[in-house]
Amino acid sequence: MSTTPAPEDLRRFLDVATEAAMAGGAVLQKYWGNLSSVQEKGRSGDLVTEADRASEVDVLNVIKRHFPDHAILAEESGQLGQRDNRFLWAIDPLDGTTNYAHQYPLCAVSIGLLVAGVPTVGVVYNPILNDLYRAAKGLGATHNRQPMQVSATAQLSDSLLVTGFAYDRRETSDNNYAEFCHLTHLTQGVRRGGSASIDLAHVACGCLDGYWERGLSPWDLAAGAVLVEEAGGQLSAYDGSPFDIYSGRLVATNGPLHQLIVQELAKVQPLPQFKPA
Ligand code: IPD
Ligand code: CA
Ligand code: CA
Repeated sequence: MSTTPAPEDLRRFLDVATEAAMAGGAVLQKYWGNLSSVQEKGRSGDLVTEADRASEVDVLNVIKRHFPDHAILAEESGQLGQRDNRFLWAIDPLDGTTNYAHQYPLCAVSIGLLVAGVPTVGVVYNPILNDLYRAAKGLGATHNRQPMQVSATAQLSDSLLVTGFAYDRRETSDNNYAEFCHLTHLTQGVRRGGSASIDLAHVACGCLDGYWERGLSPWDLAAGAVLVEEAGGQLSAYDGSPFDIYSGRLVATNGPLHQLIVQELAKVQPLPQFKPA
């Protein structure tokens, strides 16, 4: 039996996700450049601000008003409702907090809907650059309401990739430094965007050709995963096996580059623990 809801239901979920993303985005616009509180959440570098919290309140109000029976997994509030609910909204009210706190304009509200565990609807909204990315399973993907698709780049030597480094990077040798060096040598470059949902949106709209990262959470990935698949791209685990949103790591590409990136990641050995002089 298909887990995908009917198209009219998908369109409603997409509209509500967009309304919620816009509500969160308005909060992020209000606090942009006006933060009075930037705190570390416990791990060095993992920041939270009053904008993260206020955005989440407004996003959750929209989702709860329309779908009081659905479950929610939101970065600042945690799990609300049962995890085994057929409908689970995975919400990051501000993805790219470090960028936001520095007024570096790559950040987003990221709203994904998992249906029976499958990422099915995704909205990523950058309220600073006013970029809106939307997709729903089987309905395609759009950027600012125009159809978007992944790039056609087929050679690593022609590609521009993006990755990221998780907050535990100082505590583990599995910190992506070796992978970054390896793929930087083989490509035209590897960017570090600082917002996983925007990184995925950029693969989906074709300005980047591929992305990999570890140490992520479902709210970082749910919406962007739908964008990439619906824009014609491919998702998997690092070893090419099926993408698992709870594993915290993924490879997301335009398709032609997928196996090439998976093969190169498999060759990488961790660097010795990096200790700055
Ligand atoms: C972070 C961003 C970043 C990624 C981190 C995430 P946050 O989310 O997506 O690009 O490298 O692993 O935690 O903390 O800004 O919501
Ligand atoms: Ca995030
Ligand atoms: Ca966040």
